[in-house]
Amino acid sequence: MSKVSVIGAGFVGSTIAHWAVVSGGCQMVVLHDIVEGLAKGKVLDLIQAGPIARHSVDAIGTSDLNDTADSDLVIITAGVARKPGMTREDLVATNAKIVGSVVTEVAKLSPHAILLIMTNPLDTMTYVALKSSGFPRERVIGQAGVLDGGRMRTFIAMETGISPENIHTTVLGGHGDEMVPLVRYSHIAGMPLKYFLSDEQIERIVERTRNGGAEIVQYLKTGSAYYAPGAAAWRMAEAIVRNKREIVPASVYLQGEYGLNDICFGVPVMLGCTGVERIIELELNEDERVALNKSADLIRGTMKDLKLETA
Ligand code: APR
Repeated sequence: MSKVSVIGAGFVGSTIAHWAVVSGGCQMVVLHDIVEGLAKGKVLDLIQAGPIARHSVDAIGTSDLNDTADSDLVIITAGVARKPGMTREDLVATNAKIVGSVVTEVAKLSPHAILLIMTNPLDTMTYVALKSSGFPRERVIGQAGVLDGGRMRTFIAMETGISPENIHTTVLGGHGDEMVPLVRYSHIAGMPLKYFLSDEQIERIVERTRNGGAEIVQYLKTGSAYYAPGAAAWRMAEAIVRNKREIVPASVYLQGEYGLNDICFGVPVMLGCTGVERIIELELNEDERVALNKSADLIRGTMKDLKLETA
């Protein structure tokens, strides 16, 4: 597995390209943007860091999608980012057009690729990518839970003073305000969160996780987060290109799992070189199930706005 293309050379796309080159996890990186010169300039800058930072992965920047042909993995970040006061759902009409047209072309140029979707609203854009590509569901994957879980780990570490490396979290559902941080499936060095945190603290952490993206947008004012989203994308990309068979939460097309059909939704999956190698169904209690269904309803609402019909 060797050629990775990143579509969209904005904040998220260029951060992912940086990870791809620095990690040395693939042989060739292509950064593409519709804006002439943007990806070329960023990649020139990136490869000039190579002799200094000791990386030497081949990379090109381009505004010609043909340069992405025969990619093994294509990461889609093209689209617009949100501004203060906007939800991810507010981006839907604009980004659906962009993702739909880009993925249609990408699928023709790289018919065997795995697609990793980053553009928001994430679950709906993953659905658009699945339908526009005609690819099997195993090869169209949305990044959400790795980022949300990373944010929750950060907040737990801030509250407890314990290393985030000891902290494991599980955040499922849609990548929106109704995402579902699963406290029961989160732990600190194997111990339940309740050993270290009060109910109030846990509730605060769950809320801050849900608003993690919006909190950053409020500070930035002109765009949204990119360091943690970029790191999350590369974590998933590495699981794929290195065939790690790692279990992570990801947005995938469900066909009856968790009682849901015809929707892309965040659930635990095993990632390897063929994409989603397995979907894992956790046992949920009534409250968790209700929360997941509420999250799915939000996505279905967004899909209805786009006139993407769902079962
Ligand atoms: N083809 C290629 N690139 C495109 C296209 C297209 N059809 N349309 C837009 N782009 C590019 C823009 O030119 C821009 O450079 O996508 C890039 C998006 O970059 P930013 O505006 O910096 O947005 P970014 O912060 O990277 O977020 C991208 O990821 O996390 C999500 O919500 C976020 O949907 C947003 C996406």
